[in-house]
Amino acid sequence: MAKKAAAKPTAASPRLKSSSLLDTRVVYCGDNLESLAKLPDACVDLIYIDPPFNSNRNYEAFWGETKEKRAFEDRHENTKAYIDYMRPRCVQLARVLKKTGSFYYHCDSHASHYVKVMLDGLLGENNFQNEIIWKRTSSHSDAKRKFGDQSDSIMFYTGGDAKYTFNPLYQPYSQEYIKSHYSNVDADGRQYTTRDLRSPSPRPNLTYEYKGYKPHPNGWSISREVMEKLDAEGKLYFPKDQDGRIRIKNYLDEMPGTLFGNVWDDIEPLNSQAAERLGYPTQKPLALLERMIKASSNENDIVLDAFCGCGTALVAAQNLKRQWIGIDISPTACRVMAKRLRDVCGLPESEPLWRAGRGFVVRDLPWTVEKLRVIPPFEFENWAVIALGGIPNKVQVGDMGIDGRIFPVSANATPRKKQEGELLLQERWYPIQVKQKDKAGRPDIDAFEAVMMREDCEKGFFISFDFSSDALTEIDAFFKRSHKVIVALTVQEILDEQIARKLA
Ligand SMILES: C[S@@+](CC[C@H](N)C(=O)[O-])C[C@H]1O[C@@H](n2cnc3c(N)ncnc32)[C@H](O)[C@@H]1O
Repeated sequence: MAKKAAAKPTAASPRLKSSSLLDTRVVYCGDNLESLAKLPDACVDLIYIDPPFNSNRNYEAFWGETKEKRAFEDRHENTKAYIDYMRPRCVQLARVLKKTGSFYYHCDSHASHYVKVMLDGLLGENNFQNEIIWKRTSSHSDAKRKFGDQSDSIMFYTGGDAKYTFNPLYQPYSQEYIKSHYSNVDADGRQYTTRDLRSPSPRPNLTYEYKGYKPHPNGWSISREVMEKLDAEGKLYFPKDQDGRIRIKNYLDEMPGTLFGNVWDDIEPLNSQAAERLGYPTQKPLALLERMIKASSNENDIVLDAFCGCGTALVAAQNLKRQWIGIDISPTACRVMAKRLRDVCGLPESEPLWRAGRGFVVRDLPWTVEKLRVIPPFEFENWAVIALGGIPNKVQVGDMGIDGRIFPVSANATPRKKQEGELLLQERWYPIQVKQKDKAGRPDIDAFEAVMMREDCEKGFFISFDFSSDALTEIDAFFKRSHKVIVALTVQEILDEQIARKLA
């Protein structure tokens, strides 16, 4: 993934890649420990990571309540194991961060103190800038014996150079603040507040009298020329009493607002109605990522998210005209974020377009028989169901023998009126059963037949690496008995894209 210095644009390669050092607009599917090792030193401007937390609340390995969740929890059963897991990854992240860059580590109070100690060691205590407190919920139904946990912590470090990128961000003043500070209104309706023009230290050369108004004992803070200029612009406030002092007007419409502090309570978590919601419990709001990206990078800078889930940081970076690199270990997450980048950002997923400086690519998806044999079962199920154009079951515990459903193309047609005794078109669906085994056998087919009878489906799909001859004989016998079709598909057939023929 690291590249040699960029070649001069030629007719054959007309446009330079986004960076002469590394490929951007790429999602890498794999363990970030391996992917990061291939990146050159000091190559990214902003890193955001949101690893699975060391807390029961948020252990989901992307899909929420799955049977893999337990195994995932066990992996980080204590904080030491969590930090041991994260440390080598953070070593790599610290290596790839530019000196002028920024590193945001999203976690919560279960691990934040341990994370800080680890990052102090890797990035330097002096490069710690803030612990950002994001108020992610107002509810605290879990809190009967303590105060409710309502916030996440985002540890913000910079890369070591005093001239690190930081763009101050402002929020609008609150209504209360405006009411109490901007109560003065000009003839043209502009609200303003006033500030005195007293010099903080004695300035004997600025003790001039202006239009009969006396200077402060220390002198004015501005020269006579500036005073005259402000006066001409109508920006001076003259008290009625000439013993009072001239003040300067600060207009509300010229003020940038209040600088953001480290407590962010204005970004709502994604509720069930949020337009950007994809349905994954760990998805973070775009606004949260936008704030960090706006503050700590500029257009065309490179943003890296090494635990990028459904791609919130990548979408935010793309929308803000930054370059980006995403890494996630879950092939399903990578497919979901690819769809999001296509749908939300209108970015084409295409190798030729990416080479031409547009579009993006997903690399290293484990789409070989060997790799598919070893990915976690829930990933395998998702891969198989999605490959068939089906919809995976979200709940994989107690799935009643169904791993996904296919809604035949005709089922999406305009609904027609239901005839007596006829199912509505949209109600037609076919079950998909997936077994990550070398050979599905007769008992597996028997169990799927029971599902098809129970659900009264005319057709169903069974995916495995291979089928025993008993299993195939039983599929034929089932058709003769019930006129219901079980389509047996091997993984190799799906990879060879022979499915279209079988799906027909
Ligand atoms: C909490 S989610 C990130 C959610 C993300 N911020 C979003 O808004 O969509 C954590 C992600 O880290 C991924 N992950 C866990 N371990 C990983 C590893 N070693 N390498 C790469 N990704 C990993 C998981 O698959 C999961 O998608």
